[in-house]
Amino acid sequence: MFNKITIGALLISLSVFSLSASQDTKKWLRPSTVPQPADNKLTPQRIELGKLLYFDKRLSSSEKISCATCHNPKHGWSDEHPTPKAVGHNGLVGPRNSPTILNSAYQSRQFWDGRVRTLEEQALGPIQTGVEMHMPLTVLLPKLNNIKEYQKLFKKAYPKSGGVITSDYLAKAIASFERTVVSTESPFDRYIKGDKKAISKKAAEGFKLFKGKAKCTDCHDGFNFTDGSFHNIGLNDGELHGKELGRYNVKHRASWYGVMKTPTLRDVAKSYPYFHDGSVKTLEEATAICANGGRYEHNVRNKSTYIKNRHLSEDEIAKIVLFMKTLTGKDMKLKIPTKFPQ
Ligand code: HEC
Ligand code: HEC
Repeated sequence: MFNKITIGALLISLSVFSLSASQDTKKWLRPSTVPQPADNKLTPQRIELGKLLYFDKRLSSSEKISCATCHNPKHGWSDEHPTPKAVGHNGLVGPRNSPTILNSAYQSRQFWDGRVRTLEEQALGPIQTGVEMHMPLTVLLPKLNNIKEYQKLFKKAYPKSGGVITSDYLAKAIASFERTVVSTESPFDRYIKGDKKAISKKAAEGFKLFKGKAKCTDCHDGFNFTDGSFHNIGLNDGELHGKELGRYNVKHRASWYGVMKTPTLRDVAKSYPYFHDGSVKTLEEATAICANGGRYEHNVRNKSTYIKNRHLSEDEIAKIVLFMKTLTGKDMKLKIPTKFPQ
């Protein structure tokens, strides 16, 4: 009797263990589908049209800048010239570092401060912003509507448009292409699916530290390595100003003071420099800041309670960096357009 109970208890605890183990595995797996709004489902025509627009420099007033200037596939979908802050129209420097657009399709809020929700809402921003593409829609829309081949492509992609290009359809097409910019299988993905040799022993130890002692998963969690939330990690001390105020700019809530979105860590090795201000060049330094209580330990208003000194050694930080490097997938298959609609 006693034995039966202990065996029963053992079986229960084993099944609980395997259940939590499989749940732990599952949350790291790349989803097979990408979220799509009901009124802008992905079709090959929409993706292809969006791709042309994404790479077409005629969308900027100088005709020298496209989305790809700051979100370049060859640089982890981030800056073409890795500068701390985005360089746009006439060499003007914007207030923040260009984030990668990889997996932005999975984000419920866009921008470092999450000021818009959808990729459709986001897309028209940079076109019009003075320091980015500097192109008023009142100029751009007639310009695009004069390009016959674009009219045809819009009609095919969005039959209801009748080939009339409005800001709504323009945003929808660009967003459709962006939804195809998702991470490809990385060594980490093969590891998590059971191929224990896919990453080195040190990188595997780094993953353990990442989830354990370093508590990076308090914020960088799930397949996209983000909680989709906002935190002040203590990059700046004292009073904050301008865009550094983060989500506080969106609404003046005390808990939003200086908080920024947790970025994805997928392909993070490709998209340096790091942080919203591009102030850090290496993953070692970024990890040390996140793991050891922020850049500034004191005098930081509203620093996240998850940012604490985890007392990691250099060796442990190096292992976490090795782990993060296993999140790099192969470049996605992409034919960058060289000819544009006339
Ligand atoms: C001059 C450089 C520049 C250009 C050109 C540019 N962007 Fe950006 N992009 C940025 C910067 C900087 C940010 C972050 C701004 C912020 O958070 O306030 C950003 C943010 C984004 C985001 C949000 C990503 C995230 O994780 O929050 C998306 C999506 C995006 N851009 C897409 C585009 C598209 C589409 C175009 C072309 C229509 C474009 N960008 C043109 C610099 C640029
Ligand atoms: C409190 C939540 C939180 C914790 C815990 C945390 N991070 Fe972060 N991490 C963030 C936020 C928020 C940013 C962006 C901050 C900014 O730019 O102002 C960030 C940025 C980064 C970046 C730069 C990525 C980029 O594209 O710019 C790296 C790398 C990083 N974290 C790694 C780590 C590692 C490794 C750990 C564990 C040692 C960790 N983080 C712990 C929230 C967190």
